[in-house]
Amino acid sequence: VPPGIWRGRWVRGGREDWGWLHLLCHVCVAGKFLSLEELRALVQPSPVTQATVGKWLSAYGIEGCRGVGTLDFLECTVARAGLRLLPGAEFHRYVSGERSVVRSPAPYSLRGELAEHIDFVGGLHRFPAERKVLSQAWATEEEVAALHRAGQANFHLGVTPAVIRKRYNLTDGDVGAVSNNSQACAQFLEQYFHQADLAEFMQLFGSGFKHHSRVDQVVGQQGRGMAGMEASLDVEYIMSTGANISTWVFSNPGWQGTPCLVLPSLFAVSCEGVAAMPCLRPTETHRTDLPRHPLTQPPSCTGDSGAGCRRLAEGNHTFRPSFPASSPYVTVVGGTTFHNPFQVGDEVTDYISGGGFSNIFPLPDYQVAAVRRFLSTAPKLPPASYYNSSGRAYPDLAALSDNYWVVTNRIPMPWVSGTSASTPVVGGIMALINDRRLQQGLPPLGFLNPALYQLKEKGASTVTQGCHLSCLDATVQGQGFCAAPSWDPVTGWGTPNFPQLLRALLSQ
Ligand SMILES: *[C@@H]1O[C@H](CO)[C@@H](O)[C@H](O)[C@H]1NC(C)=O
Ligand SMILES: *[C@@H]1O[C@H](CO)[C@@H](O)[C@H](O)[C@H]1NC(C)=O
Ligand SMILES: *[C@@H]1O[C@H](CO)[C@@H](O)[C@H](O)[C@H]1NC(C)=O
Ligand SMILES: *[C@@H]1O[C@H](CO)[C@@H](O)[C@H](O)[C@H]1NC(C)=O
Ligand SMILES: *[C@@H]1O[C@H](CO)[C@@H](O)[C@H](O)[C@H]1NC(C)=O
Repeated sequence: VPPGIWRGRWVRGGREDWGWLHLLCHVCVAGKFLSLEELRALVQPSPVTQATVGKWLSAYGIEGCRGVGTLDFLECTVARAGLRLLPGAEFHRYVSGERSVVRSPAPYSLRGELAEHIDFVGGLHRFPAERKVLSQAWATEEEVAALHRAGQANFHLGVTPAVIRKRYNLTDGDVGAVSNNSQACAQFLEQYFHQADLAEFMQLFGSGFKHHSRVDQVVGQQGRGMAGMEASLDVEYIMSTGANISTWVFSNPGWQGTPCLVLPSLFAVSCEGVAAMPCLRPTETHRTDLPRHPLTQPPSCTGDSGAGCRRLAEGNHTFRPSFPASSPYVTVVGGTTFHNPFQVGDEVTDYISGGGFSNIFPLPDYQVAAVRRFLSTAPKLPPASYYNSSGRAYPDLAALSDNYWVVTNRIPMPWVSGTSASTPVVGGIMALINDRRLQQGLPPLGFLNPALYQLKEKGASTVTQGCHLSCLDATVQGQGFCAAPSWDPVTGWGTPNFPQLLRALLSQ
């Protein structure tokens, strides 16, 4: 199992969220990371914890819980009678359209002697996230034909692989060339991609560069339901920048209903990453068929509500950082839009692009200089009471997040937007950089951030214009942070310039 970023449902302190999760790397240097066995040696719960929790579960007749390689997470199927093991919780089935989830509106408790052995029980309180990616219409064949004509002229009618590749300076020959590389994304909560959509997408938009039109391996269950917009978007765009690279999808439709347990471990941080693993519902396939090659997973999106907003008890507001975007172990991608909406040219901030400062994770060493420079040179900052300038600042990079074309359920859909679109684009570019590293006998990048902040040659085009949204109040009037000439907490270092980024990361 490579360290890296896994898309998943994340649980901590009884709260759940969606996001990309990063597996711990021991030495945070590009190309150096732990094996699963080494990771397990660091994080596995003590024998006392394992025995105590096992005894507690079996007292309620709960057997056969699924574990993960690192042993710090259990997924258990609990019959109705076993629900008494969480005093206080009341289980109800909530139905919305065709989806239903079991949740408890009331808090749960655990017997005192268990407290030191269990960090939290997931799957009880929060509801599945709303779909972040939106589209307002679908296209006719005439519109698709017009799109191609536009591509030949120098304007465009929405973001396609050709537009992305042109903007980020990928030539037609910039595709994967080695067979021992791969990339992956994951789908959850009954969000499926369809191979047929991907094939149609590549037929419509994949001309000019060598690419795959099939996902090579789906780990876990691939349902037969409608395709999800987000799942379609992820595979279609990671395979357009990370073109001609073997692509895997990790799929877990049902995790939403199942409470999970996390056992305390030596390093809380690794837990967050590992917490994603049971969400992949480790099946036989997962355990035995993990690729022997290094995987590259796409980074995290920032969320789509700018700096966010939270009302404090005394009535004042403060920004609301999102997780796991605010984790120092995640490479986070913000959103941009074209300055001239019909031309492949300069990008400006997409006002939805998430960004800001963590209230939990301190500023990691790798970004101290960049963040200090931003704070000391920004012409106008929000009032200090709105954010915590000593926290991990995000995002790290950015990419287009507006006006994408996606094929879903065999229909080409225009105007798909959200920072969820930016992440597979950057993920595929990183997989391509791994391909070139492998060609030269170098290890894949592993944890990217320290390297990203140390690049001597700039690998990205700085986004300098635009601000993102925040609290709608008299003090900040809906405005969060603004883009700046170097790193900024709206678009990070800016958007990738492939040839330069490749050169810089090949020398790491
Ligand atoms: C595509 O990748 C394969 C290895 O997986 C390689 O043999 C082939 O040359 C690549 N195609 C191009 C056009 O680079
Ligand atoms: C709330 O905001 C007002 C106006 O900005 C400020 O004067 C006041 O001190 C704030 N209250 C607290 C508790 O921070
Ligand atoms: C600010 O962030 C630091 C971590 O960097 C944290 O320890 C501190 O509690 C935060 N302050 C507030 C007011 O949230
Ligand atoms: C991957 O393949 C390339 C070229 O085919 C080779 O040079 C490299 O050593 C391989 N790397 C690993 C880790 O197998
Ligand atoms: C791509 O290259 C052109 C020409 O060198 C440059 O102007 C542009 O900024 C590059 N794109 C990005 C995203 O850096």
